Formats: sequence, C-alpha cells, structure tokens
Amino acid sequence: LQGRVCYARRLPMMTSADPRDRYLEALSSRHLRDLKFSEVTRALRSLSVGYVQKREERGLARALDGRGKRAAFALYYGARHFLAADALIRDFNLGFAGTGRRTTVLDLGCGTGVCGAAWALRSAPKAHVVGADRSSFALHEARWTYGALRIHGDTRRSIAEGLQAVRQPDGVVMGWTLNELDSAHRADIGKALLPWVARGTRLLIVEPVSARVSPWWAEWTAPFEGHGCSAHETKLKITLPPKIALLARSAGLGLDPLVLRVLVSNAPGGGNGSG
Ligand SMILES: C[S@@+](CC[C@H](N)C(=O)[O-])C[C@H]1O[C@@H](n2cnc3c(N)ncnc32)[C@H](O)[C@@H]1O
Repeated sequence: LQGRVCYARRLPMMTSADPRDRYLEALSSRHLRDLKFSEVTRALRSLSVGYVQKREERGLARALDGRGKRAAFALYYGARHFLAADALIRDFNLGFAGTGRRTTVLDLGCGTGVCGAAWALRSAPKAHVVGADRSSFALHEARWTYGALRIHGDTRRSIAEGLQAVRQPDGVVMGWTLNELDSAHRADIGKALLPWVARGTRLLIVEPVSARVSPWWAEWTAPFEGHGCSAHETKLKITLPPKIALLARSAGLGLDPLVLRVLVSNAPGGGNGSG
C-alpha cells in the first residue's frame, strides 16, 4: 500500500479559486456520487455514536464497516479536520516558506490525509507529505486527497514505518489520533518525536478537550514544552460547506465550535506560505 502520488488526478474545474474550497467540493461529489444523502446521514449518525462517542474496540477498521460509514467519515470528519488543521496552521504560523528547498511533513495517523495536506497547502512551495495509517481505506483516501490537491505525497502502513520514512521531517502532525493509541505506543511516539523537535522539527498535535479521551495530555506534552513547544486550549469556529453542514444537521450533530487541545511549536521563524 505504499504509494507515491503525483499529479495524476486533478480537481475538476469549479467556481472557487481557493484550492481548499475546490477540494471540499470534489470531496462531496466523490462521496455522494453513488450513495443517497439519507444513507450517508444514517451512517454518520451511527459512526458518531460507535466510533466517536462509545469509542468501540478496534477503532476505525471496525467502525467503517460499510460504504455509507466510509463516505461519512471521509466527508464529515475529513472536512472538519481539514478546516480545523488549516486554521491552526495559519493561526500558529506553522507554514514553511523561504527555506529554499522542498519541506517534508509527516502525518501520523493520517486518516484521509487532511492534516498533512492542509499544512502542505500553507507552505510555499507546497510541502511533501508522508501519511501513515493502519487503515487501508484511510490510506486510499489519503492518496486521493494528495492527488486532488496536487501535493506530492507518500503513504506508509503504520506509524512505525512513517517514523522511519524520513530522517528528520520539517513538520510532524498528529490530528485526533494519539487518543486512539495505547499508553505504551503513545510513549514510544513521544520518545521518537522529542529529539526531532529539539533539533527544530515543527510540531502540531491536536486532540479534543476531554478528560475522558485524553487524560494523559499534560504528562505527554510536558517534555515538549522545554523544547520550544507550548500547549493551548482553543475554540475554533469552522464553516463547513453547505452540503456537509446539512449532512451534519440531518445526522443530529451540532455545528458548535470545536474545542481543542493543541501542542504546537512556538512562533517559528519561517513565516506563512501562501499556498
Ligand atoms: C480520528 S482518526 C483521525 C485521522 C486524521 N488525522 C484526521 O484528522 O482526520 C484517527 C486515525 O488514526 C489511525 N490509527 C489509530 N491507531 C493507529 C495505529 N496504531 N497505527 C496507525 N494508525 C492508527 C486510524 O486508522 C485513524 O485513521
């Protein structure tokens, strides 16, 4: 399942000039093409109860046991996480620019690839992304995301393979993933990331604010705070495209602001890319 994506598939010609808007339109078309809106709505309701609220065993692989749920995950969670990551990368000024070389971002637990892709788009030139996940569906969708956004991307089938894929990445992102790992795995990842961060790798870790989901947060993040990172709680109001917002409302999900915990590198010197 390792694979490199170049520019094989491009976004269709659409009205907005912003590649983010065009990506979200293409995402909707992709996942609503062969399924009824009501099927995806039902699947989203069930996914949000089983995977997100009850945190059923075996994570995503078990949760995505039908086409509707796969579409709901890619569409609703993909869009939300893409827009949230984009806003965080902009607000914390994490984009790479003026380095004189192509930068690389490692996206661990990449899902459909949206966090790494958002970072690549906020860098000039666009960063290369290596996305790692254990779900083959997620990796398939991540490759589609990279192709649709014309980002150079590779995928790896595990976080361990992802950590070995790059000698020292310029950035590492883990969005809504650390809470799915057991404590030993989480500790190993912390140990692997710390030396990189000490040598200048930029970091973005995103988790929901929840004592139930991330009781380990303060202890896990503390060592990074001595290495130019800081932990924050932040509230983000994101605007989903109308069709995805309707899907959420129909599934009974509110459109409240996201309340997030982030661990992030402090004010990097490179400045924002324009993407
Ligand atoms: C909630 S999703 C978040 C995905 C993506 N980062 C995003 O923001 O949309 C968590 C992801 O972590 C992946 N994951 C969980 N445990 C993993 C493990 N042990 N190794 C690799 N990936 C894992 C899941 O397959 C899933 O794609």
